[in-house]
Amino acid sequence: MGQTLVVLKRLSSGLASGVAGVFKTVGLFFVDFALFLFNLLTPDRKKGAVIPKGCPGYGGKWPEYVPPQAGDSRCSCPALNALANHGILPHNGRDISFKDLNTVVRQSYNFSPTFCKFVPSYAANMLSRDYNTDFFDLADLDAHNCIEHDASLCRLDVHEEPDQGKIAHELVERLLTRGTGPNGNLTKKDLSRLLGERRVEAKRANPKYSQAFIHKMFGSSNSSTLLTIFGGQIDDIRTILTEERIPDGWEPRIRHRMGLTILEFNNTVLPVELGVKEEVDGSINVAGRERYDAVQKK
Ligand SMILES: *[C@@H]1O[C@H](CO)[C@@H](O)[C@H](O)[C@H]1NC(C)=O
Ligand SMILES: *[C@@H]1O[C@H](CO)[C@@H](O)[C@H](O)[C@H]1NC(C)=O
Ligand SMILES: *[C@@H]1O[C@H](CO)[C@@H](O)[C@H](O)[C@H]1NC(C)=O
Repeated sequence: MGQTLVVLKRLSSGLASGVAGVFKTVGLFFVDFALFLFNLLTPDRKKGAVIPKGCPGYGGKWPEYVPPQAGDSRCSCPALNALANHGILPHNGRDISFKDLNTVVRQSYNFSPTFCKFVPSYAANMLSRDYNTDFFDLADLDAHNCIEHDASLCRLDVHEEPDQGKIAHELVERLLTRGTGPNGNLTKKDLSRLLGERRVEAKRANPKYSQAFIHKMFGSSNSSTLLTIFGGQIDDIRTILTEERIPDGWEPRIRHRMGLTILEFNNTVLPVELGVKEEVDGSINVAGRERYDAVQKK
């Protein structure tokens, strides 16, 4: 009897927190929609005035860039590493609160408050930490297949390179030379193509390759950040990916007052993901089979 009660209690509290979670997420998307409308109805911030006054990067003046030193924590995300390299996040990349991450990413990259809440909450959840009270090191974000995943455009798979903070210069170089837009800028089609190639290549080479649907969406989201916040502009993207530095005078290319909302972001993410030909024609599956056959032959 007593045990049944415990089970019931646990069930009901589990259910309650599940329901609360759904309400929170639905609430967040509702707010996101409101911000999306607000952005539509209000004029963008003026060029040169995207970063709020008093914040690092205001007027294009970013704090001094210092490359990471031995012992500094870095992760697979060039944009977050850049914030640490400029000392906007702690330079050692350690003891960052999820709440501060929200604020700093919003001020520096002009993602919407909803996006900046969603992603650190997701990360906190993944790491079984509390968004409101807990801290993390940048490298903690690289728990495999939480957010970090295979077939990165700028990192070798963790199977080959356990340190996901390390820039894979060959991959980055490939990305930088494949833009077909004006001046070699990157377009949605370019990124779909590059993602497809990388997934096939990684799946062929990596016996531990995995890519869940959510990670495909994350991958397309990274690519979409290059297209939105960085405007596809290859010179800026070169600096951020090869040095993890924010270019002098740079500001986010999204100038909306409420930043890049989740809804607007999806407008880029979905076409990029749906444009991955290898997923549509099934050649991604062939890549897996080829590796399997090769192993069998040995
Ligand atoms: C997207 O970012 C995550 C986290 O930084 C990384 O692990 C992943 O490989 C990236 N995906 C692509 C396609 O670059
Ligand atoms: C392409 O890139 C150049 C240099 O990075 C930039 O000046 C230009 O505005 C970009 N064009 C488009 C259409 O984004
Ligand atoms: C946007 O995409 C994310 C995944 O990237 C998804 O969780 C969310 O439901 C989408 N939101 C909207 C409002 O379309």
